[in-house]
Amino acid sequence: MSAKQFDVVVIGGGPGGYVAAIRAAQLGFNTACIDEWKNAKGGPALGGTCTNVGCIPSKALLQSSENYEHARHHFADHGITVSGLEIDVAKMLSRKDNVVKQNNDGIVYLFKKNKVTFFHGRGSFVKAAEGGYEIKVAGAAEESIVGKHVIVATGSNARALPGAPFDEENILSNDGALRIEGVPKKLGLIGAGVIGLEMGSVWRRLGAEVSVLEALPTFLGAVDEQIAKEAHKAFSKQGLKIELGVKINEVKSDKKGVKVSYTDAKGGAQVLEVDKLIVSIGRVANTIGLNPEAVGLKLDERGAIVVDDDCKTNLPNVWAVGDVVRGPMLAHKAEEEGVAVAERIAGQHGHVNFNTIPWVIYTSPEIAWVGQTEQQLKAAGRAYKAGTFPFMANGRARALGDTTGMVKFLADAKTDEILGVHIVGPYASELIAESVVAMEFKASAEDIARICHAHPSLSEATKEAALAVDKRSLNF
Ligand code: FAD
Ligand code: NAI
Repeated sequence: MSAKQFDVVVIGGGPGGYVAAIRAAQLGFNTACIDEWKNAKGGPALGGTCTNVGCIPSKALLQSSENYEHARHHFADHGITVSGLEIDVAKMLSRKDNVVKQNNDGIVYLFKKNKVTFFHGRGSFVKAAEGGYEIKVAGAAEESIVGKHVIVATGSNARALPGAPFDEENILSNDGALRIEGVPKKLGLIGAGVIGLEMGSVWRRLGAEVSVLEALPTFLGAVDEQIAKEAHKAFSKQGLKIELGVKINEVKSDKKGVKVSYTDAKGGAQVLEVDKLIVSIGRVANTIGLNPEAVGLKLDERGAIVVDDDCKTNLPNVWAVGDVVRGPMLAHKAEEEGVAVAERIAGQHGHVNFNTIPWVIYTSPEIAWVGQTEQQLKAAGRAYKAGTFPFMANGRARALGDTTGMVKFLADAKTDEILGVHIVGPYASELIAESVVAMEFKASAEDIARICHAHPSLSEATKEAALAVDKRSLNF
């Protein structure tokens, strides 16, 4: 029997892969998507890292834990008394699992709606074949399909500390971190990056004593310094213990917990003893089982698939998107690349603007930014103007009872073009969208300053920060 032939075969059903498959199908291509993720019952669970053990479950737990923290510490300010407050971790986890399942099921529906053929199993290259590339699908059954175009979107895996493999019992990756069954008394985190801060926040809010050990001497080095300082102050006040400039020497795990031996910034030998340890020191591109050698698909020294600006690999008609290639490991970046590749296959001019990819850290306060930081502009010798506006002076923030943080605008000194916008504060994740649009349209700070913003709204802080670029904010 000859192998089924498709115009486009996508390997990986995370945000990069499933979105690429939908867009390819919308463009009229006969499209297949292969994904191997299994749910607890062994069935398919489309959506990749993002849906199963990343963006979605982490945001579900962040929401639950924030609700708890509000009830515990902030309801009283509103005259609401709560007695007998408790956290049912099992219920919280099962709600999170339901949220994940709704997203898994949503993608199954979207595949049906768009007529994407789904294969549950591991996809691996067999050979360049007539009409494209032969891909073996190893699932409940084994079969071969042929794709004229192949889009690889196999994502990434958590990086382990040398000598301390994940057991998901005591030493946890993002996977285990999202299903701790009870609040640990003491929780350690290695790496004060995005996962470290988000997961540290979840378990601190629920009552764990949280210590974060970070190798770099600066906190959130990629974030605008002024914003990072403000966030550091807020996290420390909340009780998150963050130690910078450490060197991890040894991690030992036994029934009682985990012992981390490290050297502190001053060179002193230290030991941190915790019940659970989350290791969040970055992620590595995943090509396990893909068999790239079979077709000569080129990887770089770190194991990522080598692509050009258009996500083309070294092989004709083989493309790669998302975490498995260079660039930020973000779901929306993966999606944009997936759409752009499908459009390029159709002969269109798919485009991803790396300068306007927003970043969000979903802590409280949230941190969000787009474009360049002040330190990047200084290093590049670019003449710029800065304007900031604190949420303290925003009526909606006062009404919310959350006045931490600020909006900061950076604009070109001569042309006033917006070069970067940085927010630490309530709903920064939502507020940043306006600035992304503005930068995409090459707006000036004055453009934002002249636009009518609803009152009272947090978005007025954005307008005021834009006004502050010209030193004419109205409410501060
Ligand atoms: P993935 O989502 O990793 O999907 C790859 C898929 O391919 C998986 O389903 C995998 O099983 C499958 N696969 C791999 N190899 C094969 C094969 N050979 N055959 C078949 N299937 C295969 N990003 C954000 O933008 N916002 C967030 O809030 C956010 N939160 C995060 C929180 C955590 C805890 C983590 C770990 C990550 C978070 N991310 C977030 C990052 C985001 O999850 C990734 O950037 C995104 O999932 C990358 O998408 P992808 O499609 O490239 O890969
Ligand atoms: P990260 O790159 O954000 O942070 C890793 C941190 O670990 C860095 O600060 C690094 O200096 C530190 N580190 C590295 N090696 C270390 C060592 N040996 N000892 C101590 N510290 C060490 O990576 P993280 O948090 O693992 O997340 C992975 C990726 O997932 C992120 O880069 C991000 O792209 C994505 N993600 C995105 C989220 C979002 O958009 N809100 C949420 C969570 C993850």
